[in-house]
Amino acid sequence: MQNSFSYIMKILALNGSPRKQNGMTDSLLDLFLDSAEAAGAEVTKHYIIDLDINGCTGCFSCWWKTPGKCIYRDDMDWLIPAILESDMTVFATPVYHDNIIHYLQRLRERTLPLALPEFIISNGETTHPGRYHKTRKTVIIATAGFPESSAFEVTERLFGDATHIHLPSSVMIVHGKDLPIIQDFMDAVKTAAERLVKGEGLDDELKKRLKLVYPPEIKEMIINQHNEMSDKMNP
Ligand SMILES: Cc1cc2nc3c(=O)[nH]c(=O)nc-3n(C[C@H](O)[C@H](O)[C@H](O)COP(=O)(O)O)c2cc1C
Repeated sequence: MQNSFSYIMKILALNGSPRKQNGMTDSLLDLFLDSAEAAGAEVTKHYIIDLDINGCTGCFSCWWKTPGKCIYRDDMDWLIPAILESDMTVFATPVYHDNIIHYLQRLRERTLPLALPEFIISNGETTHPGRYHKTRKTVIIATAGFPESSAFEVTERLFGDATHIHLPSSVMIVHGKDLPIIQDFMDAVKTAAERLVKGEGLDDELKKRLKLVYPPEIKEMIINQHNEMSDKMNP
């Protein structure tokens, strides 16, 4: 199925979870991508851990010596054009030590060639303008082990303008599937994917449902279940 302009939206998804298809991050990402695909998008997904991506050395060659081009020849050579060609980039990450996972951070640092060296002020803060002018949607899918939303503070800060999808206590996407709160969250993720592919905006109510917040009684249940499981697993 194509959207009303018969334009096929290209989505590039990059999952930073080292557990790849066994992880909760991938389950959540696939929920989003399957719905996007059903709404007519063309979806490509990569696991970042499988890619050859060197760490940025901070040499600034991509700004001053070979504008737009990094010194390294690795998978960023095709990934940068793939990001530029995509209409939507979906970054998926588990929260590790309150942060995004380092595989994603390494990739992010290597996107410096996409920025120009100049300083500009945007929303009261200094930043760099983009080297290329195509507007692209960014979606962040983040999962965490703890039940509190504070787990996503860094993710929010790093990808301020993006559409954020937050799943605290990520195992709930498997073990809590029958709970209305999880079903509502999963419905919201699917609806958001469909609306974004169709070029429709997300209203504040839907954006709120994409950031799952547990009421105190569910949080207590999660903690008790986790500790019971942990006791059994202890050798
Ligand atoms: C090394 C490590 C650090 C973690 N740090 C945090 C953390 O700071 N806060 C949190 O809520 N969960 C933390 N977690 C839990 C993961 O975010 C959570 O289990 C996530 O859903 C894993 O995604 P995956 O199933 O795709 O691997 C950590 C997990 C690992 C392995």
